[in-house]
Amino acid sequence: MEIKAVGVLGAGTMGHGIAHVLLRGGCRVFLYDLSPRFLEAGAGRIAKGLARDVEKERLSAAESEQALKRLKATARVEDLGGADFIVEAVTEDFEVKAGAFRAIEPHCAPQTIFASNTSSISITRLAAATRHPDRFVGLHFFNPVPVMKLVEVVPGLDTSRETIEAAERLVASAGKTPVRVNDSPGFVSNRVLMPMINEAVFCLMEGVADAKGIDDVMKLGMNHPMGPLELADLIGLDVCLDIMTVLYESFRDSKYRPCPLLEKMVNAGRLGCKTGQGFYVYS
Ligand code: 3HC
Repeated sequence: MEIKAVGVLGAGTMGHGIAHVLLRGGCRVFLYDLSPRFLEAGAGRIAKGLARDVEKERLSAAESEQALKRLKATARVEDLGGADFIVEAVTEDFEVKAGAFRAIEPHCAPQTIFASNTSSISITRLAAATRHPDRFVGLHFFNPVPVMKLVEVVPGLDTSRETIEAAERLVASAGKTPVRVNDSPGFVSNRVLMPMINEAVFCLMEGVADAKGIDDVMKLGMNHPMGPLELADLIGLDVCLDIMTVLYESFRDSKYRPCPLLEKMVNAGRLGCKTGQGFYVYS
């Protein structure tokens, strides 16, 4: 099946980034959010990103203009009926995500494929909350979406081969590299990344080095583009804590115990870049 139109649920950081790369790849995009404020901000950031693509000669001015014309920002669930493929990027909470799928399914064509950009919730469990688990797949994008090349493609227990292949084609059309990963807590990315970030927070809590020292070690010694604490601030400390909690509860293994300092920072509302303070202060 050819995918020409994609509905993106949620106009936040991940949702608008996903919409941006799909538009760049030639799709029509329905960007759906219940909040007019989020929709306006998301559409504005997409327009800015497309203008930046022209500046950097990734797109011509005409291509950028056409891409923007293919975007429809909407709070009307009926508009999603025009989509061949839906990518959900709403709050990382099972009930919120399952509720979003249940709300839109009646408005979608029978052959529509559904994908979730969850970073840690079981794809099989989410799929089971929908009418057609065979047409459900995980598509895990990375932040910042316009820059990061990877998308983990995660089949659930019942996902059909056609669904996986359609998802991989969509990912490739957005200029990303799909890597197929089984449905397991944290997939590969967050199972490896989050314990590293969590361990960096333990180092900070135990005074092994200060935040800058820890980040410098990983940047200068391991050639990571950002230190683990800077990266945690970019991802959001609440998101990091949620993912560590999923790993800890799913594997029931103490090696995934969230660092108490990470919990304390989240309790204090220091969530990283988005709140202006995390391990660093942002103006
Ligand atoms: N949003 C959008 N674009 C951004 C951005 C952001 N937050 N931050 C940087 N960029 C863009 C810049 O605009 C620039 O684009 P350009 O080509 O148009 O100029 C490009 O990225 C490079 O930026 P800079 O030159 O300013 O800075 P760097 O070269 O240092 O790169 C970085 C910045 C790309 C963020 C780099 O530091 C990096 O790759 N960091 C690691 C990011 C990472 O690991 N992400 C994965 C997080 S885990 C995840 O998302 C999974 C989830 O489930 C938790």
